[in-house]
Amino acid sequence: MIEQEFIPQSYSGAIEKGSFSWSSPSNIALVKYWGKKENQIPENPSISFTLDACKTTTTLKFSKKEDDGMLSFDVFLDGEIKDDFKPKIETFFLRIETYLPFLKNYHFIIETSNTFPHSSGIASSASGMSALSLCLMSIEKEFDANMTNDYFNKKASFIARLGSGSACRSIEGDLIVWGKHNNIKGSSNLFGVKYPYEVHEVFKNFHDTILLVDKGEKKVSSTVGHNLMHEHSFAQERFIQANENLDKLIRVLKSGDLKTFIEIIESEALTLHAMMMTSIPYFILMKPNTLKIINRIWAFREETGLHISFTLDAGANIHVLYPESEADQANKFIKNELVAYCQNGHYICDRIGFGAKQL
Ligand code: DP6
Repeated sequence: MIEQEFIPQSYSGAIEKGSFSWSSPSNIALVKYWGKKENQIPENPSISFTLDACKTTTTLKFSKKEDDGMLSFDVFLDGEIKDDFKPKIETFFLRIETYLPFLKNYHFIIETSNTFPHSSGIASSASGMSALSLCLMSIEKEFDANMTNDYFNKKASFIARLGSGSACRSIEGDLIVWGKHNNIKGSSNLFGVKYPYEVHEVFKNFHDTILLVDKGEKKVSSTVGHNLMHEHSFAQERFIQANENLDKLIRVLKSGDLKTFIEIIESEALTLHAMMMTSIPYFILMKPNTLKIINRIWAFREETGLHISFTLDAGANIHVLYPESEADQANKFIKNELVAYCQNGHYICDRIGFGAKQL
């Protein structure tokens, strides 16, 4: 599909008011998106596990307004007005107006809440932007009763991408690819698609325990980080590597080769941070406890031969990944040895999920 297909013809009919609610999960990238072109087009393809427990629930109330020249909305987080969320949402609305031209005809009330604690260091942009996009798509569907589910999901992902790149991977599950890759049929820079090939049983119930090492606000926003890839000496090599890692992952996902899986995803996580450490300006988002946990995971794997691995986002928290068959040992290890490194002992048990749900 091309961008023009997301620009609607004129809407028929008018709706006075209504309300839609969606809950949408977070996701964790295995091959990372880091670097983007104009209009939220990724420099390289990425793939993620959709999560289950970490999610945002959003209710969007809309009512027709008289003047239709201006955007008008209020935002609430956990029932409290959140004016500091407004600039980001305003930018988002302005970016998507061409694709959802009804935006200026309504006043919106956005009520949102997250299952994970606010300022846990877990980015809410993927789950938050995808939940809001799905609510907006539910409104558009009211204007177009013949809209297919496939179009609905693709456009929801397309819209979510314009809010936050990784959000486009949070509409469906359980493995989502975003960004054009030559060997992945249907992959697109414009929206996320379900991974279309065979996936070994071992990856079906994967667990992700998120260790909250540093719950502070992010020191460097993702957008700033992505932009630093423009002048980065290693950028082109990195984009090639991401494509190659995705090629390797296609084979691994089919065969169930956990050893190579671990090699790819840990290398991806460390490369992401290496890119941050080698940009100008450079920065380090890992904390001493991040490194302690990584070393404990490596030692434990060596001692036991189990397949417990880690990945990282653009922050200090660690995502510990392991298959269902090793969940008992992994949980004991996490509780006995890793939780001590978490801020206030906080961690979140999550696992692979199957995408957003309308409520
Ligand atoms: C490190 O999607 O937060 O989590 O498009 O600027 O909103 P924006 O960036 P964002 O970047 C996420 C980057 C990452 C890796 C990933 O999720 O692929």
